[in-house]
Amino acid sequence: MGLQDVDGFLEHLRSAVGAANVLTDESDLAPYVVDARRRYRGGALCVARPATTAQVSQVLTLCHEAGVAVVPQGGNTGMCGGATPRAERDSVVLALGRMNRVRAVDPLNNTIAVDAGCTLAAVQAEAAAVGRLFPMSLGSEGSCQIGGNIATNAGGTAVLRYGPMRDLVLGVEAVMPDGRVVNAMKALRKDNTGYALKHLFVGSEGTLGVITGAVLKLFAKPASDAVAMVGLDDIDAALALLHHVQARAGSRLTNFEVISAGEYELVMSLPKGLRDPLAARHPWVAIVELTDADPAAPLGDELAAIVHDAMERGLGRDATLAASKAQAELIWEIRHSVTEANVNAGLTFSHDTAVPVSRVPDFVRGVERLVAERFPAAKPVFVGHVGDGNIHAVIVLPREAASTPAETDALAAAVNATIDEVTLSLDGSISAEHGIGRSNRRRLSAYLDPADLALMQGIKALFDPKGLMNPGVLL
Ligand code: FAD
Ligand code: MLT
Ligand code: ZN
Repeated sequence: MGLQDVDGFLEHLRSAVGAANVLTDESDLAPYVVDARRRYRGGALCVARPATTAQVSQVLTLCHEAGVAVVPQGGNTGMCGGATPRAERDSVVLALGRMNRVRAVDPLNNTIAVDAGCTLAAVQAEAAAVGRLFPMSLGSEGSCQIGGNIATNAGGTAVLRYGPMRDLVLGVEAVMPDGRVVNAMKALRKDNTGYALKHLFVGSEGTLGVITGAVLKLFAKPASDAVAMVGLDDIDAALALLHHVQARAGSRLTNFEVISAGEYELVMSLPKGLRDPLAARHPWVAIVELTDADPAAPLGDELAAIVHDAMERGLGRDATLAASKAQAELIWEIRHSVTEANVNAGLTFSHDTAVPVSRVPDFVRGVERLVAERFPAAKPVFVGHVGDGNIHAVIVLPREAASTPAETDALAAAVNATIDEVTLSLDGSISAEHGIGRSNRRRLSAYLDPADLALMQGIKALFDPKGLMNPGVLL
């Protein structure tokens, strides 16, 4: 586009969403062109902030006509650089934050219909206000948005009981790259009317269209809960403990998370004065939470008995049961501080592996062995959702290990390839919950079967023949 065309294009955008909602000044653009982990810095023609589906449709129609790329952005908390525009200042960042209306709550149908720009925390609060639960729980829940959660098929700590975002979405409204609106906002639990288009948008990372609304499942609100932290000898003990708790607590087991000693140390060294719930440090800790909708359920006693039995069987070294809400919050604060701790730790490369739950110990040992052989200066630490087979291997290196962005990229690629080697040997996945984004695009083409990749490219071409949606992300 020539300069005059750019001015005309921006003028049309201003008429569509209001002049105040088209940002072009460098200082206004700054927070939108860098990712949460500050690994990617891009540029943008402008940021457009629509408030309605009709406005999103107008913006996409204008971009489609002018051949301008669009980068949908929610809370900008993603882990893979998927919401960061490429360096050329030629894309429109479409920021969904003004689309934050709750459209309808139906407690009898256990559903809530929302705009895609509602934050996860706002949806949790709306559900709680009508005595229901929206169960997704992420460390970023105050900022991340439902549209971003759908676009990344987010996971988090409650997947064990309630599933990832794909399982929580009943309906989706989305705007196609040419401005057409796909209205699949059905609040139905059963609907066999052809291909489930909504599922194509789950995990699409902004490459097929812009999600503008969603119908989400609600659940009975837990009225009692109990949380424990258990010190463990090794990762095998974590699996044994998981099965012990599942056998005793059944579906009341809501969370089962693990943290290795190295990751725990990084969290406890953060300058925010976190108090250690356990008297000593252990090679691993597990965080176990039971919940029940019955306010009279004696979950504290039940969890104490389960953990006591586990210790008798040698499954745990030490344990503490949260005696108050504040203690439970402290345990969860420790868990939710890992991302912050990893950013502070030096040069870190995080991975988002899924393997069959039974192979988690093989994954951990495989990573430890190969990293020790190939990167002697590195320290692997682990955190994750062991009940989902989703372990984040975080490889921590001294900052001096790479001094230029090119060196960092080369080191990251070598580390990623090592972790992927272990993952693939266990029939695992290179992305369990974070997505592909910009970071893992090359890894994806090596990971997927050519036939799967070709089908994905065909779907992309069908939805976005001009290739304008989030170029450089996912495919
Ligand atoms: P963004 O970062 O804005 O975007 C992510 C991707 O979705 C981009 O490709 C973007 O283009 C696309 N997108 C965003 N909105 C839309 C839309 N409306 N329509 C179409 N495409 C869209 N993730 C987990 O899965 N589990 C965790 O436990 C977890 N913990 C985290 C803890 C912290 C402290 C942080 C910072 C992040 C964590 N994350 C976790 C990652 C992140 O929060 C999730 O990936 C989240 O779902 C991203 O939502 P967002 O609104 O911030 O999306
Ligand atoms: C987590 O499990 O805490 C998240 O996925 C974030 C991370 O891996 O840093
Ligand atoms: Zn995670």
